[in-house]
Amino acid sequence: MAKNISTFTCADCGAVHARWSGRCDACGAWNSITEERPLTQGSGALKGKRGATISLVDLATEEAPPPRTMSKIQELDRVLGGGLVPGSAILVGGDPGIGKSTLLLQAAARFAAAGLATVYVSGEEASAQVRMRAQRLGLGQAPVRLAAETNLRDILSTLETERPGLVIIDSIQTMWVDSVESAPGSVAQVRAAAHELVTFAKRRGVSVILVGHVTKEGQIAGPRVVEHMVDCVLYFEGERGHQFRILRAVKNRFGPADEIGVFEMTGAGLSEVLNPSALFLSERGQPAAGSVVFAGIEGTRPVLVEIQALVAPTPQAQPRRSVVGWDGGRLAMILAVLEARCGIPFTGLDVYLNVAGGLKIGEPAADLAVAAALLSAREDSAVPAETVVFGEISLSGALRPVGQMENRLKEAQKLGFSSAIVPAGGKGVSVPGMTLVEMPDLAAFVGETFGAG
Ligand code: TYD
Ligand code: MG
Repeated sequence: MAKNISTFTCADCGAVHARWSGRCDACGAWNSITEERPLTQGSGALKGKRGATISLVDLATEEAPPPRTMSKIQELDRVLGGGLVPGSAILVGGDPGIGKSTLLLQAAARFAAAGLATVYVSGEEASAQVRMRAQRLGLGQAPVRLAAETNLRDILSTLETERPGLVIIDSIQTMWVDSVESAPGSVAQVRAAAHELVTFAKRRGVSVILVGHVTKEGQIAGPRVVEHMVDCVLYFEGERGHQFRILRAVKNRFGPADEIGVFEMTGAGLSEVLNPSALFLSERGQPAAGSVVFAGIEGTRPVLVEIQALVAPTPQAQPRRSVVGWDGGRLAMILAVLEARCGIPFTGLDVYLNVAGGLKIGEPAADLAVAAALLSAREDSAVPAETVVFGEISLSGALRPVGQMENRLKEAQKLGFSSAIVPAGGKGVSVPGMTLVEMPDLAAFVGETFGAG
C-alpha cells in the first residue's frame, strides 16, 4: 500500500522537496513551498459527481485565420513568425539597458502606423520621459497612446473600455496586483500580473507584449511559468560595448523558434540589419592566427560569423577557459577530443574563445570552426582568408555532416568566400564557385590544415 506522506512542492519551479523550508533549493524563491497531501483514495481524484459534457469541434475549418499585422520592421516581423497574431501574448526579455524599451517604442509606432490601435504602458518611466525618447527617435507624431501606471486593476479597466489592438507593458516586474500581498517585482506579483494580462489578451483578442528583465543567471526574473503562459518568448541580447543587438525567438507558437533578427543601436534608435553576415565580418582585418569564419544557420537564415581564439602559456596549475558567445561545456569537449583523438594537448595553456559581434551560437555545426580557431591559435598559423568552416565533431573525433549545407555555402559564396572545409559525406552538394575540402575526421583535418597531428 502506498504510504500516506505529504510532499512539499515549490509553487514557482515545481521542484518537489522532502520537507518544508523557507527557500526553494532548486530556484531560490522564498516562501514558495507548499504542502501537498496525497489523495487517500489513490487515483480516484475525480470520483463521484459527473462533469458537464464539453463540445468537441473539428480540426478542419473553412475559416481563414485572422490576419497578422506587419510592423514593417522586417527583422521583428520575421522573428514573430510573419507579423503579429491578434490576441497573442509575447514576452520580450533582456538585460537592463540593452534596448528593450527603445525597440518596443519603435515597434509601437510602426504597428500604430499599420492601423493597429496601440497603447504603451510604462511602469518605469514617466510619460514625459517616454515622449522625449520618442522625439529623439523621430516618432514624436506617432499615434501611440501612452500611460505611466503600475496598478494593473486600473490598467485593465482602462483597456476594457479603450479596446486597443496592441498593448505594450514595460515592464512586467513593475506591475502591481492589489490583491496579492507582496512587493512589486516579487515572484507572486509577476506571476499574477502576467496571468491577468495573458487572460485579457485571449479574452479580448488584444495582442499583449510584456517586457521582462533578465536575472544574472540569464532567466527572466520571476517565475519560469511566465514563459509557459505566453505564446512567444523573445530574448533581446547583445554585448554592452557592441552596437549589435539580436532579437531571438526561443519559443514561438506561431512560427519557427530560434529565428533571429539583427539590429544595430545607433544615436537614433535601433536600425535593422538586413544582411548580418556582412556586418559581422565587416570588422575582420587581415587573416590572423586564431580567426576562422563559421558558416552558420540562425533560424531560417544563413549567418557568417568570425570565431576568434587565443591560446597562451600560463604558469597556473588550472589554466583559464574563457568563452563568450558559445557554450563552455562544448569547448571543454572539443579540447578533450583534440587531446584524446589527435594528440594535441592544451595543458598549461590558457584558452579564450570569442564569437565576434556579440552573437551567441548554439549550433553544434560550429564545432569544427571552433576546433580550427583553437588549432590555428595554438600553431600560430592562419586559416586561408577565403575559407569558411563548419561541421559537427563527435566524441570519437569523426566529423558529422550538418543540415542546410547548400544555404551555408551559397551565403559564403555571396560574401566572397571560395572554399569551405566541411565533413565528408555531404550528399554531393555543390555550389558553383565554392571548392569543398571534405574531411572524414578531426585527425585528417589537423594533418591537412596544420601539418601536425
Ligand atoms: P533602453 O531601451 O532604455 O533599454 P532597456 O529598456 O532594455 O533597459 O535603452 C537604453 C540604452 O540604449 C541606453 O544605454 C542608451 C541607448 N540608446 C541609444 O544608443 N540610442 C538611442 O536612440 C536610444 C533611445 C537609446
Ligand atoms: Mg526599459
